[in-house]
Amino acid sequence: MPEPIREELQTQHRTAVLVAVPDPDLKLPRERVLDELKGLVKTAGVTVVGEIIQNRERPHAGTLLGKGKLEELKDLIAETGAELVIVDNNLTPAQGRRLEEETKRIIVDRSELILDIFATHARTYEAKLQVELAQLLYMRSRLKRMWTHLERIEGGIGASRGPGEKQIEIDRRLIGHRIAELRTKLTEIEGRRERMVRQRHSHALVSLVGYTNAGKSTLMNALTDSGVYVADQLFATLDTRTRKWAVPGWGDVLLSDTVGFVRDLPHALVASFKSTLEEARQADLLLHVVDVSHPEAEKQVATVEEVLDEIDVKDRPFILVLNKIDRVENRSIADVLRARFSHAVTVSAATGEGIDRLGELVASLLGDGFQELEIVAPVSNGKLLAWLASHGEVHDQQFDEANVTVRCRLPSNQVWKLEQEEGIEIRRLTPETRPQPVEPLPLAETA
Ligand code: GTP
Repeated sequence: MPEPIREELQTQHRTAVLVAVPDPDLKLPRERVLDELKGLVKTAGVTVVGEIIQNRERPHAGTLLGKGKLEELKDLIAETGAELVIVDNNLTPAQGRRLEEETKRIIVDRSELILDIFATHARTYEAKLQVELAQLLYMRSRLKRMWTHLERIEGGIGASRGPGEKQIEIDRRLIGHRIAELRTKLTEIEGRRERMVRQRHSHALVSLVGYTNAGKSTLMNALTDSGVYVADQLFATLDTRTRKWAVPGWGDVLLSDTVGFVRDLPHALVASFKSTLEEARQADLLLHVVDVSHPEAEKQVATVEEVLDEIDVKDRPFILVLNKIDRVENRSIADVLRARFSHAVTVSAATGEGIDRLGELVASLLGDGFQELEIVAPVSNGKLLAWLASHGEVHDQQFDEANVTVRCRLPSNQVWKLEQEEGIEIRRLTPETRPQPVEPLPLAETA
């Protein structure tokens, strides 16, 4: 089972100096450069006692910071007694080692911090396996650094059984072995999950995706009254939850909430969370939730798009949901984003503003992906009726002696299969003749 990658983050070392060499493309005012890292650090339960920011064309290849700033960092550590140095950048193994030698402190980079938070927040068996896999992949390339600093920690963390001790015990070969084992287990779970999601596909699947803290869980609650956990911290949600949402003018759909994304999400983590994102991968429609009150809203949108690309769902129909509009004084960012995307809507999950419009847009976009049909088939074709019930939503069936007439809604990508069927007649209904949705089949919830 995964544990925090560095036990010391959670237990012994709770004060840290934060360090950042911001990407020159991130045009944040200096006082906001560390905001996100502070959010992550707070979520990890560590107290910040100092900060160092250096603007450079690119980070120093050996030590991240230039010589002068490195001295400043050492002085700050001496002054504050900080136990950790947490770096907003992702470090190369060599940079990590050099910084550790120079500062005589444990260095935690961005990926490591995120992995640590994921490890503490993972709740389900699957999420735990996924985090453990991501941790091991990350550690494998950094074993040397991890071993050196473990040797230096006085009293060691040897007293408590943690992954630190495991790192010493387990050599590369064993790590490789465990990685293979985890992959096998995850593939099994993934297969089951894929089948489960596909089976539920008789209902339209709508998936919430977005940057961490954008308000996905709050929106899910607002739409479904479901009491999903909401917290003003990053990555409060690690496991996908699915609930029924009655979309006005459409009927029930399945709405799923997924893990939040963040800038520079470790690759191993994205890869191992692919199956958690299965709902997003199989969704008919994505709701990309953005915190439009955030100064980096545009960058966050781009980050989410990158991750969606990595999990192969970039071309899926989506609505950009510009959330937290109640907090926005200057709506220009919202206007810029709205203009860039074909389907965008401003809402406040907190006050309910715009929620009706969101529902209408969802209904209209889902309508594009479905067809209302009237099918006439011989009564004897029981297989067809079963197929329709599991792949679409059956509204009505009328029997006469020879035939059954079925009115149903079917995903457009399934209609061609019907067309292969011999001896049946298919009529497409116009939207005006579309019957109102009736009570759908009972559903099992995943959480
Ligand atoms: P992760 O679990 O990190 O992915 O977060 P999330 O996207 O699920 O965000 P969540 O719903 O947990 O909300 C994050 C914070 O934003 C909470 O403190 C919410 O109360 C707040 N929040 C969400 N929506 C709104 C909104 O429309 N307006 C305001 N003012 N706050 C909101």
